[in-house]
Amino acid sequence: MHPDTRQAITTPITIGGKEIENRLFLAPLAGLGHVVMRQIIQDFGGCGLLFSEMCSAKAVPQENRRISPMFRWRDEEACRLVMQIFGASPLEMARAATRIEEEGLFGVDINFGCSVSGICKKESGAAVLKDPDRAVAIVKEVRKAVRFPLFVKYRTGWKDDPLFATELAKRFEGAGADALVFHPRVSPDRRSRPPKWDYIGKVKQAVSIPVFGNGNVFTPSDLTRMLETTSCDGVSLGRIAIARPFVFAEMTQGTRFSPEIYPQVALRLLDLLEQEFNTGYALRLYKKFALYFSANFKFAHPIFKKLVYADSLDGLRENIHTTFAERPELAATPNINLFAG
Ligand SMILES: Cc1cc2nc3c(=O)[nH]c(=O)nc-3n(C[C@H](O)[C@H](O)[C@H](O)COP(=O)(O)O)c2cc1C
Repeated sequence: MHPDTRQAITTPITIGGKEIENRLFLAPLAGLGHVVMRQIIQDFGGCGLLFSEMCSAKAVPQENRRISPMFRWRDEEACRLVMQIFGASPLEMARAATRIEEEGLFGVDINFGCSVSGICKKESGAAVLKDPDRAVAIVKEVRKAVRFPLFVKYRTGWKDDPLFATELAKRFEGAGADALVFHPRVSPDRRSRPPKWDYIGKVKQAVSIPVFGNGNVFTPSDLTRMLETTSCDGVSLGRIAIARPFVFAEMTQGTRFSPEIYPQVALRLLDLLEQEFNTGYALRLYKKFALYFSANFKFAHPIFKKLVYADSLDGLRENIHTTFAERPELAATPNINLFAG
């Protein structure tokens, strides 16, 4: 890791009046960034803020954090947890944000990035970007309702036009957002195509609130390049944080891990999933994780198949032991895009 990069990402930053010890965040990831994965990441250390997977704003006011799979957290993470919400109505979004603030979490993040059809059909996520006035109205209403840090995560939009993204950045800032997380891809998502990082630089130049870049940062040199080429204030890591939950400790603290860390992570994840969720859900979540985890290895596809070929948690444990007994070769760089759709 370049010393300037480490220095840049470990410089504390204040957002909405609250200080954060570093500038490397876990991105919101549905089905991946759940309470158990966040515990594993937090135990390794080095992650400035943890963003939750997206939660429905309509549901949040009634959610029970002990039962809900998504609106769920550990008290130990509350001070660094930003709960992400999606929804179509400004009032619904404001009510959800109020509940999150009352729960004492770090902040709220508005999802204007998800282009999955189920979310867009509800006129939520990236679909809101088709109606910029409504997007701004949502940010304004949420701002009126809460005082804690308010993040907006959004993407380039539905056309490949950086001007749309920069104009919207200014309007979000005017509406009261404390920070932006920008993912420079158009909808619908094609993660196999690289994001246009230069658009992050344009968004950064357009506003005076902090801007965090997101998209295809997998290695320390990617991190250096994103910071250098965009001048963004920090970086939000998505899929690599699932493949390597210790990546924050590596990047911000310089901790080095031996290959034994891989089976340890997989086994610990299974144990914690079993404690936290029912078996069926634990199985599903583990299999989603295994997809990204397998990208660490040279022969990712056969390893993925070996890891997930079981329909019980004990079967999955057995698979971890047999797979790692063969000491699979690590890829030079995790091939995260191997599984991109
Ligand atoms: C399986 C999956 C689930 C995701 N869920 C969310 C989500 O709930 N909210 C959101 O804003 N973005 C979501 N994203 C997008 C990520 O936050 C991030 O923008 C994207 O993965 C690009 O970053 P990366 O290249 O570091 O992975 C998801 C992405 C993936 C692959």
